Formats: sequence, C-alpha cells, structure tokens
Amino acid sequence: MCEDDCEGKICCLCFCTVILLILATSVGFLIVAIVTPPEKVAILDANLTRFELTANQTTLFYNLSFTMKIHKYKEADYHDMDVDCYYNTKKFDSRKLGDLKLKIRRTRLLNLSSNGNSTMDLESNGVDAFKRSNETGFFDLEIQLKGKRISESDDGTRYTYKLSYQCNLRLQLENSQNSTQGNFKPVKCH
Ligand SMILES: *[C@@H]1O[C@H](CO)[C@@H](O)[C@H](O)[C@H]1NC(C)=O
Ligand SMILES: *[C@@H]1O[C@H](CO)[C@@H](O)[C@H](O)[C@H]1NC(C)=O
Ligand SMILES: *[C@@H]1O[C@H](CO)[C@@H](O)[C@H](O)[C@H]1NC(C)=O
Ligand SMILES: *[C@@H]1O[C@H](CO)[C@@H](O)[C@H](O)[C@H]1NC(C)=O
Ligand SMILES: *[C@@H]1O[C@H](CO)[C@@H](O)[C@H](O)[C@H]1NC(C)=O
Ligand SMILES: *[C@@H]1O[C@H](CO)[C@@H](O)[C@H](O)[C@H]1NC(C)=O
Ligand SMILES: *[C@@H]1O[C@H](CO)[C@@H](O)[C@H](O)[C@H]1NC(C)=O
Repeated sequence: MCEDDCEGKICCLCFCTVILLILATSVGFLIVAIVTPPEKVAILDANLTRFELTANQTTLFYNLSFTMKIHKYKEADYHDMDVDCYYNTKKFDSRKLGDLKLKIRRTRLLNLSSNGNSTMDLESNGVDAFKRSNETGFFDLEIQLKGKRISESDDGTRYTYKLSYQCNLRLQLENSQNSTQGNFKPVKCH
C-alpha cells in the first residue's frame, strides 16, 4: 500500500491504519466466537388444529404439531432435553427428548406433536386473552427448548451449560373447512 518514496508521515499513517485494521478484525472474530451460540434453533412449520377451553375455563384441549430445527456449529453433547408448550405463560404440554445426538455442522429436524387436554388456571387475564384470540382465530403460543449442553475443552475439562431457547409463534387455528398450510413463516428461537 505504501510507496517506497512516500514521506515519513504518510507511511506512519498507512502503517497505523493497517495495524488498527488487523486489531479490529481479530477483536471482531473474538467477539463473534464468544457471542455465537453453538447451535441455532428454529420452528420451520406448525399446525394448530384444536385449541378449546371448556365452559368452566379449567381445561384446555389442544392439537399442535410442529417441526423444530436444530443446527449444531460446535462440538457438544445435549442431555435432558425438554420441549415445553405455553399459552399465556402457562405450560400446557411437555415432551421429553432426553439425550440428543447431533452431528457437528448438521441440521436435525424434530417432528413433534402434542395432542390432549390440560387442566390449568389461565387466570382472568389469560381467559380474556383466550376469548379475544378465539374470535380472530389467531393464538400466541410459546415453545421452549431446554436442557444441558456439555462441551469439552482442548485439555479435557468438561463444561455444562444450561440451554434455553424460546420460540414465539402466532398460529391460526385450522379447521376442516379451510387450511392455512403453506402460510407458516419459519420462526427463529432465542
Ligand atoms: C370443567 O369441565 C370439564 C369438562 O367440561 C370437567 O371435566 C372438569 O371436571 C370441570 N372442572 C371443574 C373444576 O368443574
Ligand atoms: C391432530 O391434528 C392432526 C393434523 O395436524 C391430525 O392428523 C390428527 O388426527 C389430530 N388428532 C386428533 C386426535 O384430533
Ligand atoms: C401441517 O399441515 C400440512 C397440511 O396438512 C402438512 O403438509 C404439514 O406437514 C403439517 N406440518 C406439521 C409440522 O405437522
Ligand atoms: C419431519 O418433517 C419434515 C417436513 O416437515 C420432513 O422433511 C422430515 O423427513 C420429517 N422427519 C422425520 C424424522 O419424520
Ligand atoms: C384428557 O387427557 C387424559 C390423558 O392425559 C385422558 O386420559 C383423558 O381421557 C382426556 N380427557 C378427555 C375428555 O379427552
Ligand atoms: C370460542 O369460539 C367458539 C366458536 O367459534 C365458541 O363455541 C366457544 O364458546 C368460544 N370459547 C370461548 C372460551 O370463548
Ligand atoms: C378459517 O376459518 C376460521 C374460522 O372458521 C376463520 O376465522 C379464518 O379466517 C379462516 N381462514 C381462512 C384463511 O380462510
């Protein structure tokens, strides 16, 4: 970049700029390496075909199916994995995935379905939210992926992290007359 015959000042400026650029890039890489989580989680597709509250408002009947995508970037093992479904901060279903075997830099698709009834206390604000959603046909659900990630450093030390991802979904209740298939846009989990 510097020409041989350039003046001292310009050369110094040029040299400093190069040093600064190198520094900034390495700091950048370091930050990316620390901040980037070792996996990426998303919901690729979901169907809600039943979501009903009994007249006495104590029992929720539901039928939800979804495809969860997990992409692993770094070497790690996953243990005690659970997928929990929430409506208005109340858990209505839970799936135990146990230990997950994932290959590095590979994507795993999990097709999960939860279908049943749950006794729950939505409280008055939850019942109000339900009634409003029941009129529009759109329900806000939350899916959580939880578990433990165990990774090993170069010297063999094992590190255990608590892992927790939250996926916020707005789903349209489908009935047999109409189907909303193909309308779902993938949702990133954080
Ligand atoms: C509410 O209604 C459901 C069915 O309609 C019934 O199974 C349940 O026992 C009732 N709960 C209460 C607390 O009355
Ligand atoms: C739940 O919904 C799926 C469609 O997503 C359907 O195939 C299945 O029969 C439903 N299950 C029940 C018990 O209604
Ligand atoms: C949702 O329903 C559509 C149409 O029935 C089906 O093609 C799709 O595979 C379903 N997705 C999931 C995650 O169940
Ligand atoms: C899960 O569903 C996707 C499509 O939604 C399909 O491509 C994949 O093969 C299914 N995986 C399993 C294990 O059934
Ligand atoms: C509610 O779910 C339980 C299993 O969790 C089942 O035994 C029961 O029959 C279901 N109730 C109704 C009314 O479908
Ligand atoms: C939800 O809407 C259906 C009609 O679409 C109605 O029969 C039911 O009573 C409503 N449930 C609540 C809790 O408002
Ligand atoms: C499907 O039916 C529900 C209830 O009958 C309605 O609220 C919704 O707008 C319909 N969706 C489409 C795409 O027609």
